[in-house]
Amino acid sequence: MAITPPRKCTLDQLPAYSPWPARLLGLAPWEQKTKTPMEITREFEHEKWGPVWQRVKDRSEPVTLSTVSSWIQVSTQQLEFCSQGSEFILLSNAEANQIWLELIEATIKPWLPAPALVELGCGYGNVLLFLANRFNHVVGQIFGGEYTKSGQALFRYLAKQENLAVQSGTCDIGAPGITALNLPNDSVIYTSYAVHYVPRLTTRFVEDLCSFRPRVVCHFEPCYEHANEDSLIGLMRRRYMEINDYNRNLVTILEAAEKDGRIQIITQEPNLFGMNALLPASLIAWKPAINN
Ligand SMILES: C[S@@+](CC[C@H](N)C(=O)[O-])C[C@H]1O[C@@H](n2cnc3c(N)ncnc32)[C@H](O)[C@@H]1O
Repeated sequence: MAITPPRKCTLDQLPAYSPWPARLLGLAPWEQKTKTPMEITREFEHEKWGPVWQRVKDRSEPVTLSTVSSWIQVSTQQLEFCSQGSEFILLSNAEANQIWLELIEATIKPWLPAPALVELGCGYGNVLLFLANRFNHVVGQIFGGEYTKSGQALFRYLAKQENLAVQSGTCDIGAPGITALNLPNDSVIYTSYAVHYVPRLTTRFVEDLCSFRPRVVCHFEPCYEHANEDSLIGLMRRRYMEINDYNRNLVTILEAAEKDGRIQIITQEPNLFGMNALLPASLIAWKPAINN
């Protein structure tokens, strides 16, 4: 996506766009967060997807995916300080979202056709419904697992508006089994900014994902271990993830599983893109080892 005029910037400009440098340096108050189930429910059920779902239900006329996206993007009108690889760039929320969707689309495309495309922690389907529209003809079934009831309801409603057949159900990335959705073998499974809500994963997470016998699992997630301790931005990212209690061991547990011969890591691409430069997502793609 071509962004004109160029809005490249430097790390030194970050405080003009984000309250976080001051917070991380102890110059503005901020409390250490703990990502409990209650906290996830507060953020997504009560403050994010719940009110949007209520707004949809209050409307007498049908509401489309693009309307819901515009409601969510309008709430943040200012330019976001984003990161693209090692560069920083100012983007509107809509521009950043489009770059993000196209990045995921390009990554998933080579793995298709497939019996199913599955997102775990899909929210209302911002990414999954976009991919479903693009890949409907090459994917047998589309599954969205989500933690919140309002996210699931919105996803089902919006899929119907888009004339897409989807299956939706509960999913908890931090719980044994992850989801009761009946995922076909050889599915393409991915996550996008959902695993990082589980502060500490255990090896069970990898075992549970392997039990679905996926063709590939792609994590588009912020990775603590990919934040370079030899750089200022890397240190700030680490502190940001600590203070917000985001996941700190996704790379570690996947690399340990690879070392134990249980999975094969296909690619790791650190810090690809972040709508928030302090929380960029990496890509880690892996598959169960042949003898697993
Ligand atoms: C930042 S949103 C991302 C939504 C979607 N994946 C996307 O990229 O647009 C995070 C989502 O993860 C969900 N989530 C948080 N903790 C989760 C968990 N333990 N298991 C599954 N989903 C979870 C939230 O309810 C929310 O819908």
